[in-house]
Amino acid sequence: MEKKSYTVTAALPYANGPLHLGHIAGVYLPADIFVRFLRLQKHDVAFICGSDEHGAAITLRAKKEGVQPQEIVDKYHTLIKHSFEKFEISFDIFHRTSSELHHQYASEFFKTLHEKGAFEEQKSLQYFDATYQQFLADRYITGTCPKCQHPNAYGDQCEKCGADLSPTELINPTSTLSGNTPELKETTHWYLPMNNHEDWLREWIQKGSMEGEIIHDPKTWKNQVVGQCMSWINGGLRARAMTRDLDWGIPVPLPNSEGKVLYVWLDAPIGYISATQQWAIDNGKNWKDYWCKEEAKDRKLIHFIGKDNIVFHAIIFPILLKAHGDFILPENVPAYEFLNLEGDKFSTSRNWAVWLHEYLEHYPNKVDELKYVLTSIAPENKDSEFTWADFQTRINSELADIYGNFVNRVTVLIHKYYEGVIPSAHKLTTYDQKVLSEIATIPGKISDLLYQYKIREAQQEMMNLARIGNKYLADEEPWKVIKSDPIRVETILKVALQITEKLALCSRAFLPKTADTLLNMLQINSEDWDLTESMLISGNSIGTPTILFEKITDEWVDHEKSKLITTPITNSKYPIMKELISFEDFTKMDLRIGHVIAAEKMENAEKLLVLKVDTGIDERTIVSGIAKHYDAAAILGKKVVVLMNLAPRKIRGVESHGMLLMAENSEGELSALISDRDFDFGVTIA
Ligand code: MF3
Ligand code: ZN
Repeated sequence: MEKKSYTVTAALPYANGPLHLGHIAGVYLPADIFVRFLRLQKHDVAFICGSDEHGAAITLRAKKEGVQPQEIVDKYHTLIKHSFEKFEISFDIFHRTSSELHHQYASEFFKTLHEKGAFEEQKSLQYFDATYQQFLADRYITGTCPKCQHPNAYGDQCEKCGADLSPTELINPTSTLSGNTPELKETTHWYLPMNNHEDWLREWIQKGSMEGEIIHDPKTWKNQVVGQCMSWINGGLRARAMTRDLDWGIPVPLPNSEGKVLYVWLDAPIGYISATQQWAIDNGKNWKDYWCKEEAKDRKLIHFIGKDNIVFHAIIFPILLKAHGDFILPENVPAYEFLNLEGDKFSTSRNWAVWLHEYLEHYPNKVDELKYVLTSIAPENKDSEFTWADFQTRINSELADIYGNFVNRVTVLIHKYYEGVIPSAHKLTTYDQKVLSEIATIPGKISDLLYQYKIREAQQEMMNLARIGNKYLADEEPWKVIKSDPIRVETILKVALQITEKLALCSRAFLPKTADTLLNMLQINSEDWDLTESMLISGNSIGTPTILFEKITDEWVDHEKSKLITTPITNSKYPIMKELISFEDFTKMDLRIGHVIAAEKMENAEKLLVLKVDTGIDERTIVSGIAKHYDAAAILGKKVVVLMNLAPRKIRGVESHGMLLMAENSEGELSALISDRDFDFGVTIA
């Protein structure tokens, strides 16, 4: 078979939150299956990813969490990277766009485009927050949606009706920074005149040709991808700003561009290239072999993405690559639809999600099970849905009952009859031969399907091996034949073991851990996708049978479903909700009404009062940081809410036992939570 070379990328996830199953099912798992398969086919592959660490997605999250953007990207980059590792997504590199190398290369790339005249400088009016002296990114402006009157639409989109908006369309625009009405102010940006590129894009997307030469087969592109691109192009492409007024990102490397950074959708895809450069440095390779027209002439560049990323990967990035001049264009852009969860869209802000890191923490030994389910429901051509009940059914009645059961029956019988030693086959019946030739076709079928990105059907073919195996055992009934014709049973079990071998080999793309377990058990060591001859050696021992897939209990399903509770959409003005706690966590707190019976200002401490509080069971000292908001006299005699069992702490030398509960607004003003009924002290709060 002809060896080919591939550069495969998976969309760089924003480092502004953890990954959920929707991300995995619709980008990373399909990409990983494809890449594992290509490696087994001995193609030369680089599998590239990293985190996308710029843009308003990051600064907004930082604002919500009340920390610096750098803290956000460090935290989520690490979390995402570890989740990918534990889930065994086999990237060659998981890089990041905040790296020095990326900053340098993206600037260089931008400068080259600028020198080649790829941009047009344009002035426009943009919203500006006078209080913060800052231009406002689209997401920093909210207002009433002109289409549906939703009062909290963003400058780029209304989340209620889905309308694409521009900030100036909003009714009563408000800056989320200051809460004031922003003013329009002139600003200059570098625009990509996409309208100049319509002709070649049409040729390339519809016919797969460039300057008359066919460079890819357009039939291999998904209809949805071609459809979406053509509707954009036919609607007329417009110039789009490639820079932004923002203080987080890669500074525009041109004179008179202070306060401006590269548009995140310009810098992020360049991240694929810089990540490859880092990987090349680490591994003694030449990055140009993976990206450049000369060096990578025959290489296929494949971008795995979600459908919301289509324009960026099939129109904007190709324009940039072509305008730069040194690069190959993508061979294909397999885009996936969305995965829903229990009847609703995945939503990070409403916490309607199954988080990958949490799943992996709770069920570290159920990686392949999740891969199997997500591949079975991969949103290949339309949106699909994850439910815990379906998760249970697929694992119990497919993985356990079909796959696990088959392997278990074969290995148990071989241990029972031959103490684990692989028997020899004797004369094959026509049925044996039929089964063996049927299983021999399956790796080829899987391979055809995977080259068309049909991972669901491909995985089905893998499962067919287990189905064929179960049927073979049921038809041949070795447990009965053993009494009348033990020699025949040797053949039956050898054939059944050959089916197991194929199953193990084909599982490597989909269920890598299970495949390893099986191949180890069978003592097979092959890095080829398929074998013309079985590698099983009669006389060798096979390992002891283990349960490959445990069944999922109803309690599991109930428990997971009960964890799915939506939290209200947060308005960016207010802090986001903290992580959920359990009822047990809540009941750990001992909250009571206490009576302030003495109060005095602590010397040399502007903010602190030293209080004596009667709690009904004791009189205790509490040091409270409320002096700016309450004089000693104002709090004396009040009934306040006390957290009783907070571990004692020394504050400025005075030991404090517990804490008064206070309300605090965004200006830091405090108000004691005071009982408004004449409850006695000692009353508990529950
Ligand atoms: N961070 C983007 C998202 O999550 C995807 C970026 S893909 C890349 O939608 F092209 F920019 F890398
Ligand atoms: Zn709307």
